[in-house]
Order: sequence, then structure tokens, then C-alpha cells
Amino acid sequence: MHRLRATCDAVLVGSGTALIDDPRLTVRDAEGRTAERQPLRVVLDRRGRLPATARVLDDEAPTLVSRAADPAELLAELFDRDVRRVLLEGGPTLAAAFLDAGLVDEVVVHLAPQLLGAGPSLVGDLGITTMGAALRLQVLDVTLMGGDVQVRLHPTGHTGGETAAADSTAGGS
Ligand SMILES: NC(=O)c1ccc[n+]([C@@H]2O[C@H](COP(=O)([O-])OP(=O)(O)OC[C@H]3O[C@@H](n4cnc5c(N)ncnc54)[C@H](OP(=O)(O)O)[C@@H]3O)[C@@H](O)[C@H]2O)c1
Repeated sequence: MHRLRATCDAVLVGSGTALIDDPRLTVRDAEGRTAERQPLRVVLDRRGRLPATARVLDDEAPTLVSRAADPAELLAELFDRDVRRVLLEGGPTLAAAFLDAGLVDEVVVHLAPQLLGAGPSLVGDLGITTMGAALRLQVLDVTLMGGDVQVRLHPTGHTGGETAAADSTAGGS
């Protein structure tokens, strides 16, 4: 995940993930050292719920807390800041909003050989009720990473909006 973050201009999460996981969203090496080049950290927080004590607000990297009304508005805001490649790290609600708007170019899934049983899904409700209406993806590559499997996919049929942004990436594990 840190290698993937390092290739992006911005790393984005929704307010739900920021509140529950309190992630730092920085690029760090295997020893935990903070990398010199850091992507912009972005939290989409329309209701202003992020506390001032959130770790994403530390001084390790620049952070934007956005109140953009929807994914397209946020991407336009980021474009104005010269951000071209965005890693959306979740959570499921925001991932569904981006997929529904047709604003995801690539999906990166990390599969760990573990079973948790019932739990939160990778992507929230897309309003899809039949297999025929499923959002289809093409597998670009599959890589064994340590004991995990990384699958990169490209959405080939969008469920929602007609317009697609140039470079947005959804990642999750
Ligand atoms: N498996 C994984 O890979 C993975 C990755 C990340 C997180 N997670 C887990 O996901 C859980 C959090 O789930 P979540 O769904 O609450 O988190 P989320 O998707 O990060 O955040 C949801 C919040 O984002 C805000 N938001 C801003 N713009 C939005 C838009 N256009 N559409 C929808 N929401 C928008 C909303 O709050 P406002 O209205 O206040 O803005 C919404 O409540 C945590 O338990 C975390 O551990 C899992």
C-alpha cells in the first residue's frame, strides 16, 4: 500500500474511515520511516466531523479537508491543485460514490489469506440488484506480494454517471 501511495499525487479517504481508523495516510518504508516525498492527504468531510486531533492533520505531510458536495467536485478541486493521480483508499461508502459516478479508472484489491466472516464490504451499496446490472471489471494483472495477492482491475461498465475523470484509482484491502 505504501508503494502504491508513493506513486500518487493524493491519497483520499472519506470521513468515516478517518474517524474510525484514524489513519496517517503517509508514505512510510518497512522500518516506519516517513518518505521525503508525500502525496497530498485528503479527507472528504462534508459535515466537518474530523477532530483537530486526527492523525491525518499532523505535520508529516500536507492535508486537505474538503467539503466538496460530490466526487466530481472534489476531483475538480484537486485538479486545480495539480493533482492528477488519486488513490482512493476507502471506505466503502466513498468507494461506492466514486464507482457510481463512473470516476474510477482502476481498482486495486489486496487479498490476504484470511477469513473474517461477516464484516464491512469493500464497496458500499451501488443499488445493483441483478447480475445483469453488475459493474463489470477487466483483470489487468495479478501479483503475489509476500503472502497476499494483488489484483488490478479496470471497470469496463459503469453503473452511474456518464463522465469519467482522467486518473482516479480506488484501492482497498
Ligand atoms: N477494507 C478496506 O479496504 C477498507 C478501506 C478503508 C476503510 N475501511 C473501513 O470502512 C469503515 C468506514 O466505512 P464508511 O463507509 O463509513 O467510510 P468512508 O466511505 O470513508 O466515509 C463515509 C463518509 O464519507 C463522507 N462523504 C463525503 N462525500 C461523500 C459522497 N459523495 N458520498 C458518500 N459519502 C461521502 C460522508 O460523511 P460526510 O457527509 O460527513 O462527509 C460519509 O458518511 C471503517 O471501519 C474502515 O475500517 C475498509
